[in-house]
Amino acid sequence: MNEPFIRIQNLEKVYQTKEDSIFAVDDVSFDIHQSQFIAIVGPSGCGKTTILKMLAGLVPYTSGSITIGGKKVTRPQTDLGIIFQDSVLLDWRDVISNVMLQVDIRGLDRAQYMPRAKELLKATGLEGFEFKKPYELSGGMRQRVSICRALVHDPPLLLMDEPFGALDALTREQISMDIQHLWMEKRKTVLLITHSIPEAVLLADRVVVMSPRPGRVVEILDIDLPRPRRLDRLPDKFNEYTGRIRQIFQASGVLALD
Ligand SMILES: Nc1ncnc2c1ncn2[C@@H]1O[C@H](COP(=O)(O)OP(=O)(O)OP(=O)(O)O)[C@@H](O)[C@H]1O
Ligand SMILES: [Mg+2]
Repeated sequence: MNEPFIRIQNLEKVYQTKEDSIFAVDDVSFDIHQSQFIAIVGPSGCGKTTILKMLAGLVPYTSGSITIGGKKVTRPQTDLGIIFQDSVLLDWRDVISNVMLQVDIRGLDRAQYMPRAKELLKATGLEGFEFKKPYELSGGMRQRVSICRALVHDPPLLLMDEPFGALDALTREQISMDIQHLWMEKRKTVLLITHSIPEAVLLADRVVVMSPRPGRVVEILDIDLPRPRRLDRLPDKFNEYTGRIRQIFQASGVLALD
């Protein structure tokens, strides 16, 4: 394959606080190719959010390097979309204006992006809700709006940090499927952080498994399953992958299975 879109090499992060220093990320290296869907799974506090923020240029790294499209990340990146665990929508803006927020902030042409905003809302089942206010929506619908908002300016890279964490199991499944469809259609490069092993295997081409803090890469699994992947038709190999990841967590003391 050609030069990777994203290259993370020997990445380290030490947070300096007034009292002490916290070793958060230890020698993390992995590549992400264009249009790949990567998931990171790892125990709480192992530095997943820190990696995502360093990728987005929101937090400086202590050593190592990150390049996106061959350019070193040294400041906040604008050519990406981010979805955080608790989507924050602006209550005074209706749904379509929330989706258009990125367009407004970037001073892009509203008329050009409006059809795209509407198309994304339709693709995520929110047609007809364009003029509702966020407080009139369910949690799952709000999270869908934030997915549309992250994608409206058509960034080549989408970063998602536990985007389904606050949702009920059923909505979580539905939005996972929506994300898979969107990805198959648009072929963005996606980095998904999740606590859910099945979710990582269901959605990703590759799963990066991390150790407890300071976070290291323990193993990277290539998920060789045909798409679209459906929760009601999962092949045996699916369980082999999830089983392997559980084994890794068990070996590092993160999971006690018996
Ligand atoms: N701004 C900060 N200042 C100091 N320490 C921090 C800061 N942000 C994170 N940390 C520490 O760095 C470590 C990694 O945090 P991070 O949020 O990246 O973990 P995480 O893997 O995303 O965890 P979770 O799964 O719970 O979201 C933690 O020990 C945390 O306390
Ligand atoms: Mg986190």
